Amino acid sequence: MNDGSNTVLVTGASRGIGRGAALELGRAGFDLILWARSVDDLNEVASTCREFGRHVEIAAVDVSNYDSIMTAGAASLSSLKSLRGLVLNAGIGIWNSLDAVSVDEWQKIMSTNVDGAFYTLKMAVPLLTNHSFAQIVAVVSDSAAYSYANRPAYCASKWGMRGLVEAVRRDVRPRGVRVTQLLPSRVDTHFRGKTPGARRDSLSATDVGSLITMIFNLPKRIEVRELPVSAITSSYGPFEELYVENATEAFQ
Ligand SMILES: NC(=O)c1ccc[n+]([C@@H]2O[C@H](COP(=O)([O-])OP(=O)(O)OC[C@H]3O[C@@H](n4cnc5c(N)ncnc54)[C@H](OP(=O)(O)O)[C@@H]3O)[C@@H](O)[C@H]2O)c1
Repeated sequence: MNDGSNTVLVTGASRGIGRGAALELGRAGFDLILWARSVDDLNEVASTCREFGRHVEIAAVDVSNYDSIMTAGAASLSSLKSLRGLVLNAGIGIWNSLDAVSVDEWQKIMSTNVDGAFYTLKMAVPLLTNHSFAQIVAVVSDSAAYSYANRPAYCASKWGMRGLVEAVRRDVRPRGVRVTQLLPSRVDTHFRGKTPGARRDSLSATDVGSLITMIFNLPKRIEVRELPVSAITSSYGPFEELYVENATEAFQ
């Protein structure tokens, strides 16, 4: 019977950073509950993690939809007494200037990146606070620390997510839950329709997954609140010495 004491919930686990986190956490001995909308991809991640001997469950959850969280999401957690961790990762990016971004795109970004984070935290925090050593890692973005030109909706969503998670950190800290916000620069994933391998000067999903696993495994007394992170080979982003404000889309 899985009571959740060794279980981490990873949202957006079907590909990219969430997949990397699931594989690295599974390799390190954590049991997993994996959420995303693409069930075939979730099954592929789950079967690899089961080869590490882990207990893994998947759930088709659309984090932007409260009903989906309250039905499929709740069912996937229903047998647990507590949760060891949450990787709050599901997110989308559409980069457009204010005049080009449509109201639909704005709402889609906000409902996934902000509402989705809020719904997931509402569902998971009671189980996390039942654990004696729980960890939340929120995959936010460098766009929550630096507002880039040409992406007002994405930056607004990530600043919103960062504010939400920081407020929650203050709520849950007295109950022993550690909260870490990752602010990565570019990661070589499917983000914004890219193909992994196309941005080799960036962090890989495995890099970020390893970092998340390292945070989980830090001694209990260490609280890492925020972590800006980028590849040392990257020359793009607010944390880079060679940051280029008007980098072209091809360069990005
Ligand atoms: N790549 C970067 O350069 C970068 C940099 C900084 C921060 N980030 C952040 O990292 C996170 C992961 O992005 P990524 O780079 O790994 O992109 P990705 O390869 O496109 O993966 C995104 C993941 O989020 C899931 N997702 C998207 N919308 C969802 C929804 N409504 N409900 C449930 N799951 C949903 C996707 O699963 P389904 O489509 O199967 O639902 C997928 O598993 C995002 O929050 C992003 O903002 C990325």
